[in-house]
Amino acid sequence: MTSQRRRILVTSALPYANGHIHIGHLVEYLQTDIWVRFQKMRGHDCRYFCADDTHGTAITIRARQEGRSEEDVIAEMSDAHQQDFADFDIVFDHYASTNNPSNRALCEDIWQHLREQDMVVERTVSRLFDAEAGSFLADRFVKGTCPKCGAENQYGDSCDHCGATYAATDLLNPVSVLSGSTPQAKDSNQLFVRIEKLHPFLEEWTQSGDHLQPEVANYLKGHFLNEPLRDWDVSRPAPYFGFEIPDSPGNYWYVWFDAPIGYIASCKEWCDAHGEDFGQWWGTHTDANDATEIHHFIGKDIQYFHTLFWPAMLKVAGYKLPTSVRIHGFLTVDGEKMSKSKGTFVAARTYLKHLDPAYLRYYYASKLNHRVDDIDLNLEEFVHKINADLVGKVVNLASRCARFVEGERLAQPQQPCSALTVLGECKQRVAQHYEQGNFAAAMREIMAVADQANEFIEAEKPWVLAKDPEQRAALVATCTQGLLIFWQLVIMLGPVLPRLLEKACNLFGVDKATWDSAILGHTVGTFKHLMQRVDGKAVAAMINETASNEPNTADPAAAANNAAADSSLPALGGEPLAPTIAFPAFQDVDLRVARITHAETVPKSNKLLKITVHLGGDETRCIFAGIAKAYKTEDLLGRLVMVVANLAPRTMRFGVSEGMICAAGPGGKDIFLLSPDSGAQPGMRIS
Ligand code: 2FM
Ligand code: ZN
Repeated sequence: MTSQRRRILVTSALPYANGHIHIGHLVEYLQTDIWVRFQKMRGHDCRYFCADDTHGTAITIRARQEGRSEEDVIAEMSDAHQQDFADFDIVFDHYASTNNPSNRALCEDIWQHLREQDMVVERTVSRLFDAEAGSFLADRFVKGTCPKCGAENQYGDSCDHCGATYAATDLLNPVSVLSGSTPQAKDSNQLFVRIEKLHPFLEEWTQSGDHLQPEVANYLKGHFLNEPLRDWDVSRPAPYFGFEIPDSPGNYWYVWFDAPIGYIASCKEWCDAHGEDFGQWWGTHTDANDATEIHHFIGKDIQYFHTLFWPAMLKVAGYKLPTSVRIHGFLTVDGEKMSKSKGTFVAARTYLKHLDPAYLRYYYASKLNHRVDDIDLNLEEFVHKINADLVGKVVNLASRCARFVEGERLAQPQQPCSALTVLGECKQRVAQHYEQGNFAAAMREIMAVADQANEFIEAEKPWVLAKDPEQRAALVATCTQGLLIFWQLVIMLGPVLPRLLEKACNLFGVDKATWDSAILGHTVGTFKHLMQRVDGKAVAAMINETASNEPNTADPAAAANNAAADSSLPALGGEPLAPTIAFPAFQDVDLRVARITHAETVPKSNKLLKITVHLGGDETRCIFAGIAKAYKTEDLLGRLVMVVANLAPRTMRFGVSEGMICAAGPGGKDIFLLSPDSGAQPGMRIS
């Protein structure tokens, strides 16, 4: 035991059951797993909980498209997620599902507290009702004509064509996606949480203590806490895949209400299965769990939910509050947003077909710090770093020493080399870095000692000493030092590289390594290969495979496969083809290549971004595009897009829009900008 034994509860964001794990997700799960493994190696009672996030309209839409039940979809995805995590050596103490009864019970408990403390307000909202299906329609289950621009086939929340947002009841000629009938407006009782009542508490909780990184606390203060917090709409009318609200039949909790409660449910399930006292781990805040730490690891896109709603809900229900919410940035690959067509949107499973998970664990560790900054996976650097650091410095140290002293007992060196003498202090600093989440600094410290150790071996040349039997004592002394240092390097790398640590344990006959495990007095076993170099070709094959899983591939066989897969999708994306037009009508639309030079969010709109595009020369356009849920402003800068450049300016609520940026998809998060191939220049006409 390094210090007093702490009880530490850790979570990562619950992956949504609508898609597979990819290398972007893995930043967070690897970051969390490394932190948890570090705490466990230090002897703390640290537990890592997660679950699949299973509710919401997206799951229902997927289930309908695939002709099966929602339960089927989420069960299959949960298995796939857990297999991916296991194969990346991400180990949870428990993995649950937000659709489990344990979660429903906790939702009901928290809801009861919200009700009792007068936090819930009911308002009558007019919603579309499908009399044939006998249910209210979620926004995504109704289509019609945009009330602003007249575009047909628009969903009930916003228009893909003009970016307007509206209530589903404002749609012209609405049609229910469920039955095809015309829905009627009907009053519905909608439930809202009056989060503003918790404003003083949230001000205090977010701005004091070490719960949040300073930049996050400042962001919340400047963007949300500087004005009254808006009531949070937590109910959705049927049909909705989720839990029905017990005291409001026909209404379901919105997925973001029950998702974070899934953290508690996962912890509770583990407690029940292992005879642990839930009250000591989480539960109501008492003396019994006062010292228990709760740490949430999340990405910056979901900080609002975790730093405002979540502490508010816990506070009202009397549950223990998080010790910290640790927020990381997004992953870019070679400096750009992950892209399917460029092959950088790599699924966890595709990565595993080509590369050792240890490589990504180390690479991410070498990049992650305690700030919210995005991290970049530079593929060239990836290959270089693994080969230079892990193979060239760490593994090489063992392979240059171990074979000469197989069967030798490791004894205290008479004259320790400098790398050995600095190890103690280095290890303390590394521990501090891990604790703070500054893994990059920890990796730098470890590699600096590895460099020093290799210089020592280089100078002593065991391979030369081995040729002279007279030099046996010097050979053993040198190799012993090399191996003692190697062992400490591998211990320090243990949270990142558990398989390497396991192999080192086998080499030195150690049962289960902790942070303080020593190998003095142990006998050196038979040296076995520890790690392969990365082959750049394997990286290229992984990228190629990802890119070729996308349509438009040049590979005819893959194209045929993709076409076969595509034929299972609804024809024309489920939208009827518009009436035929004559060629001149098409020519009237002046489509141009444009570069995005500026993008900003639009206050009071969660759908729109205000974007400036450059069309060559002095030509620019200011366009309001309904893509805020799918794209971050910083990811758009510099990007080439297709623009309708001769659209008449339209006055919208937030300003004048001078064109349209072309995108595909139903809207919300599922919207995809169209990009020209490289070589296209701003201003070029598209025909
Ligand atoms: O953003 C997401 O993918 C969500 N599924 C994260 C949920 S985290 C927690 F609140 F459950
Ligand atoms: Zn419109």
